[in-house]
Order: sequence, then structure tokens, then C-alpha cells
Amino acid sequence: MHIFLIGFMGSGKSSLGVALAKSLNYEFLDLDELITEQNGDTCANLFNLKGEDFFRKKEKLALETVMKMDKKLIISCGGGTPCFYDNLEKMKENGVVIYLKVSLPELTRRLSGNNANRPLLTGTEPEQLPEKIENLLFEREQFYKQANYIIEGDTMNLDRIINVLKYSGKPI
Ligand code: S3P
Repeated sequence: MHIFLIGFMGSGKSSLGVALAKSLNYEFLDLDELITEQNGDTCANLFNLKGEDFFRKKEKLALETVMKMDKKLIISCGGGTPCFYDNLEKMKENGVVIYLKVSLPELTRRLSGNNANRPLLTGTEPEQLPEKIENLLFEREQFYKQANYIIEGDTMNLDRIINVLKYSGKPI
């Protein structure tokens, strides 16, 4: 069974994923890294040079590769992964989906630095950033909220996630 971590950019999917994988004896996989590997270019480049539709198709293909992997994986998804095609449905069929829900002010704080590798935010003027994040989060929450579990908080606690999984009734 795979465990998929979803949530907005900056919600801590990768750093928590690595820690969670260590604690639960799973392998960690970063979907953005797999996309990079499969296409020989960074996600930001694929996105900027070939366009979002192209990137989303490659993202879907990477997710399909992950579904076929016969090992226990904690997968850190891209912020947009559950919002396109039937990706979210497929993730739920193949494992447990956890939404890391971080508040808007905290996301804005975390995303206020250099966003060169975040194509959806690159070039946004600092004063426009909060509104940009708010709008995108508003569009995406309808998908994020369909996760099997929602872990909410600006300081994520590994034990909380482990407890949720323990009592999920699913084999971990
Ligand atoms: C995206 C988030 C990125 C990456 C791509 C698109 C998004 O991943 O997949 O730039 O649509 O929110 P992170 O959430 O890991 O930054």
C-alpha cells in the first residue's frame, strides 16, 4: 500500500515524507523528482518551456509508474497532482491519501522567498503573492479535501500522522 502526501506548495510534503518513510520503514519517492528523471529536465523547465498541459500529462504518467511499483512507498506529490485528470481517484484506489493542510498566512510566509523553481508563482510581484496563493488554494481545496485524512496545522507533527495511519485500519 502506498501513502500519498498532498497539499499546497510549501506544505511540507517532502520533508515530512522523508521523516515518515524513515519511521514507518517505507521508501520515499518525490513525484517531482520522478518526473524530472523520466523527462530529463526539471519540472520548472518542462512547465515553462512546454506549457502546463504538457507538464500535467507527464505528471500523470509518473503517477502511473508509481502505481505499478511493487513496494511500500511514501509519495510526496506535486501541489497540483490531485487536481488533474483522475489522479486523486487513482491514488485513493492504490493507497491512503493524506492532505497536509497549512494555513494561508503560513503558506504565504513560506512561499515569500525565491520561487524560481515554482513556475506557478515565478514572476509574481511580492504584493500580489498573498492573493495569488489564496486564489489557487481556493480552487484546489475542493480536491485536497477529498483526501482520506486531513492533518491540519502549521507545525506538523510526525506522531500525529503516524497515529492517524495506525488507527486507519489499513495495513501500514
Ligand atoms: C506545482 C507544484 C510543484 C510542481 C510543479 C507544479 C503545482 O510541486 O509539481 O511546479 O501545481 O502546485 P511542489 O508542490 O512540491 O512545490
